Amino acid sequence: MLKPLFLLPVLSLFIGTLWPEVLAWQAVTPAAPDLDARVRQFLSSRRQTWHDLNVPESDGQQLHDIIIRHNYKSALEIGTSTGHSGIWIAWALAKTGGKLVTIEIDSGRYEQARNNFRESGLAEFIDARLGDAHKLVPELKGPFQFVFCDADKEWYKQYLDAVLPKLAVGGCFAAHNVSDRGYRGNNLDFLRYVRSFANLDTTLYGGGSGMSISYRTAEKQ
Ligand SMILES: C[S@@+](CC[C@H](N)C(=O)[O-])C[C@H]1O[C@@H](n2cnc3c(N)ncnc32)[C@H](O)[C@@H]1O
Repeated sequence: MLKPLFLLPVLSLFIGTLWPEVLAWQAVTPAAPDLDARVRQFLSSRRQTWHDLNVPESDGQQLHDIIIRHNYKSALEIGTSTGHSGIWIAWALAKTGGKLVTIEIDSGRYEQARNNFRESGLAEFIDARLGDAHKLVPELKGPFQFVFCDADKEWYKQYLDAVLPKLAVGGCFAAHNVSDRGYRGNNLDFLRYVRSFANLDTTLYGGGSGMSISYRTAEKQ
């Protein structure tokens, strides 16, 4: 009568081997219920107020879901602005037990982002830095499992070059405002560039403002 129960651990190991993402999902712990409620309440109260080049909600949700799906713990954001995407990313990291480093060059936006991080209850999961990402990104030690690139579009190639050696195998480099329709005439260049890497598997997310999503598949280029 009990025999099928003995098969459960074996079956779960088998599924986990075939599909490691199943194990990653299993490892994610929900954020504390009060934190979850606080973030939800913050996001819903601020829904129509993100006017500083912030990502739309659908893109924030997408970033959050990628982190949860892969159980990423170390994340970098290039281009904080006032913190909308940072909040979605940090919310996911609060569940995986991770931390976000985010960089912004504009001091006014940086201060507003810090206020938003505090108000949402997510400040402890975020290391917000004020400075020029052209200088700061190459100096970061890494490794990172998740990178969200959303600063000056004409520098995306350089950001990728600086970050790729620090991106863990299995990690993800997501670049905002990238589509195969072109965006301000420069992201097709970036799309061609990111697709030229043999160790990156790149797809396009066509919702929201568009995004390229590249997973590092191997150590070697
Ligand atoms: C599109 S916005 C980021 C939006 C943000 N990810 C969000 O959804 O809330 C781009 C931001 O990158 C910042 N930025 C531009 N060049 C930068 C640089 N060299 N270093 C750091 N930040 C930069 C801009 O000041 C701007 O706030």
